[in-house]
Amino acid sequence: MSKERIGVMGGTFNPIHEGHLAMARAAMRSAKLDRVLFLPDSVPPHKKDIAPAEDRWRMTVAAVAGEKDFEPCRMELDREGTTYTCDTLLALRAQEPKAELFYLIGTDTLLQLKNWSRYEQVLTLCTFIVCARTVEGVSAAEVDAERRRLIGLGGRFLSAEMEPVDVSSTALREAIQRDEPTPLLSPAVREYCGARGLYGAAPRVPRAEKWLAKLFAELTPRRFAHTLGVAYSARALARNHGLDLEKAEIAALLHDCAKCLPLREMQEIAVRNNVTQDREILESGALLHAPVGAWLAEHAYGVTDPEILHAIACHTTGCPGMSRFDMAVYLADKIEPGRLAYPALTRVRMLAPLSLEKAMVYSIERTVEYERGKGHALHPQSLETLEWLKSQPENMS
Ligand SMILES: [Fe+2]
Ligand SMILES: [Fe+2]
Repeated sequence: MSKERIGVMGGTFNPIHEGHLAMARAAMRSAKLDRVLFLPDSVPPHKKDIAPAEDRWRMTVAAVAGEKDFEPCRMELDREGTTYTCDTLLALRAQEPKAELFYLIGTDTLLQLKNWSRYEQVLTLCTFIVCARTVEGVSAAEVDAERRRLIGLGGRFLSAEMEPVDVSSTALREAIQRDEPTPLLSPAVREYCGARGLYGAAPRVPRAEKWLAKLFAELTPRRFAHTLGVAYSARALARNHGLDLEKAEIAALLHDCAKCLPLREMQEIAVRNNVTQDREILESGALLHAPVGAWLAEHAYGVTDPEILHAIACHTTGCPGMSRFDMAVYLADKIEPGRLAYPALTRVRMLAPLSLEKAMVYSIERTVEYERGKGHALHPQSLETLEWLKSQPENMS
């Protein structure tokens, strides 16, 4: 059996952005890697402009959650004292003795290698994958000479072809601070920065630090990334439709807070607190996490606003008479940027900013069709919601 080929990408990831992901994808392709590890480094906590380690960690986890061959790794964050790549590679080799390690760098780092601690040993521990980048004031011949010198010392180098991504973390941090668009940041990461108030932006969500830590601990990485995506979309829909942005963001952040609990535990919470008597809902985690989530939002997260709690409680089935605020949260869940494609997605995404009601009708109708096609029926409350929505005069056209 051939050796597993593992890419290793270290960085401050302050914050992780499309440039990092593009580099990892290019390395995957060029060197036929099996997977890439993302290792945020530990930085002294007082260093200016660097987000706390746990925030950089959570953003890294959220950014790679949708990519099956990318894995976040805490090795450097959890090591005491100064982090040296040599120690990281030694530890990875001990952990993965049968794998071949590939360390991802840009041309700028190639020129810096000679300053790394024990760099001659580093050259024996991995193959470097170099993503070409122009370095100001350095000619291609100088880069080549340095590469040849390192090869003479036993270094191994591969090149990764990639379209240059014009992005700098500094520019992204400034854009976040000024509340400007950041197309090269994943919406989940952007949402994290905004809700939490990183990089000089004022925190938008009052208890974000606590809540994000709790959500991160209680949700799977994919569910956590989804949650951030829903909050991002909920804000956008609230802005489109003149609803309360902050409340929409809070409802979205907490909408799936119960989703990763075992069904047994959800049922216990529901029965003990008289959350619902509906048999069908009690038997299904896919439905029960909504009312139980609303209960947790109130009792574990301290939310008291009835509008927020109602939107969380009805985000799976909808309910007749639901408010436009409920609809915005319901639809944000359906259209968040990280959603895997499903047949109605493009149209629901197109309709939601224009008309919440029409997007709701379309979304539920398509779900009914889809479930019928599989021989399933939707919960009666979804069907009643659809009937109610269709009976509203503005939805008749
Ligand atoms: Fe949900
Ligand atoms: Fe959700």
